[in-house]
Amino acid sequence: MSNVKFLSGENIPLEMHKVRMVQKVNLLPVEDRLDRMEEAGFNTFLLKNRDVFMDMLTDSGVNAMSQNQYAAMMQADDSYAGSETFYRLEATLQDIFGMEYFLPAHQGRACENIISQVLVKPGMVTVMNYHFTTTKAHITINGGTVEEIVVDEGLKITSTAPFKGDMDLDKLNESIARNGKENIAFVRIEAGTNLIGGQPVSMGNMREVSKICRSHGIPLVYDASLLGDNLYFIKVRDPEYKDVDIKTIVREITSFMDVIYFSARKLGSARGGGILVSDEKLFLRMRELIPLYEGFLTYGGMSVREMEALSVGLEETMDFDVINQTPIIVEALCNELLAKGVPVVTPPGGLGCHVDAMEFCSHVPQEEYKAGALAAAIYIASGVRCMERGTLSEQRNEDGTERFAEMELARIAVPRRVFTLSQVKYTADRINWLFKNRHLIGGLKFVEEPTMLRFFFGRLEPVGDWPEKLTEQFRKDFGESL
Ligand SMILES: Cc1ncc(COP(=O)(O)O)c(C=O)c1O
Repeated sequence: MSNVKFLSGENIPLEMHKVRMVQKVNLLPVEDRLDRMEEAGFNTFLLKNRDVFMDMLTDSGVNAMSQNQYAAMMQADDSYAGSETFYRLEATLQDIFGMEYFLPAHQGRACENIISQVLVKPGMVTVMNYHFTTTKAHITINGGTVEEIVVDEGLKITSTAPFKGDMDLDKLNESIARNGKENIAFVRIEAGTNLIGGQPVSMGNMREVSKICRSHGIPLVYDASLLGDNLYFIKVRDPEYKDVDIKTIVREITSFMDVIYFSARKLGSARGGGILVSDEKLFLRMRELIPLYEGFLTYGGMSVREMEALSVGLEETMDFDVINQTPIIVEALCNELLAKGVPVVTPPGGLGCHVDAMEFCSHVPQEEYKAGALAAAIYIASGVRCMERGTLSEQRNEDGTERFAEMELARIAVPRRVFTLSQVKYTADRINWLFKNRHLIGGLKFVEEPTMLRFFFGRLEPVGDWPEKLTEQFRKDFGESL
């Protein structure tokens, strides 16, 4: 929000853009929503978008683009090799990040594949504030393991700590001493730490982590996919940076890093990805893999139109009125829920509002995927599609036993500049209703369980007939209403 006070004193998020193109959405009756959820195997990833009212599954590749991004797409230079569009993107990235070498890739996980193949050897450890699903999968498939050393506060649902994504520096030193620096593939900092509620990392922490890594010669890798949100929080939560312009903040962050990668489905509100590297030798090793997995070096799996949109989107990320839009809506949604006692991760992060299923569904056993059940129940109650971020999103241990997540969250993502405040209020209203009727929510069990990234396409069924009971209660309480 820009610095606008309302006469009433109310803190109302104010959109700093106007909508000039719209897409119709459908809100199905609750009985149909129940049927669609059953057809989708109680996995919100398997719903068809035509059956979804508000798609709050993710912010990935579904952000609203600006008119300047669309305009740029029309002047793309379409060539396999040596496209002007690529050189424009490369120059933009060099200017913003101040790093010399750039490799294009088709999305964030493709960057993780390249980085992991080059840096991870069997038996090596990668230390990070917190894992992301695809990051961990790429590290483990290359024979590595992941150690998470986020500060204790990061795993508390309720907190006032402004930077819950920070790394515990003592744990970092301890891990290096225990594993030996030669056995650490890399240290990874994830901006706007996704799986613990979109929580930011402070500048001071990045500075210290970098010092430790440099003193041991361990590469420091920065996942900048959620950099936009993290920049916003550095500006509003760290008084030292209140008056520092965003580009200067970015340059300070990047000065600490050896490798930066990002999903352009998030950063820059386009689609694609890329890796920036400061060391030429490392760049050359990664470069070998780009034509093999991604495409030629001047497009790396991205369409030239997306590359043009990305160049403009990255420049727009340097504008505070652009990056503040999601966090202020997330905060508004969290506040609406907190006011009715719904447990959510605090302080509100970027990316989305994270409802604590551990407490919301305290009566559902963790082995019955309480966050997955909550995500399914939210769809039935509202037509809003959100995502499970809990045990379902974990991979089983090697011996087949369940690995229980530290947090069981239903993540209601807020794609950038897509939904209006009334739609957000509707979402809160239905979740508040569900909270009152939470005793009706039951568990889920797998009927089809993939071994890798099972949350994407695994199919489940309810334990008992709770979805039907929930639907009946909705009809009773809302009458004819959709
Ligand atoms: C922090 C983070 N890193 C990496 C990725 C992977 O990016 P992509 O979906 O473009 O493969 C994501 C995607 O959500 C993410 O949130």
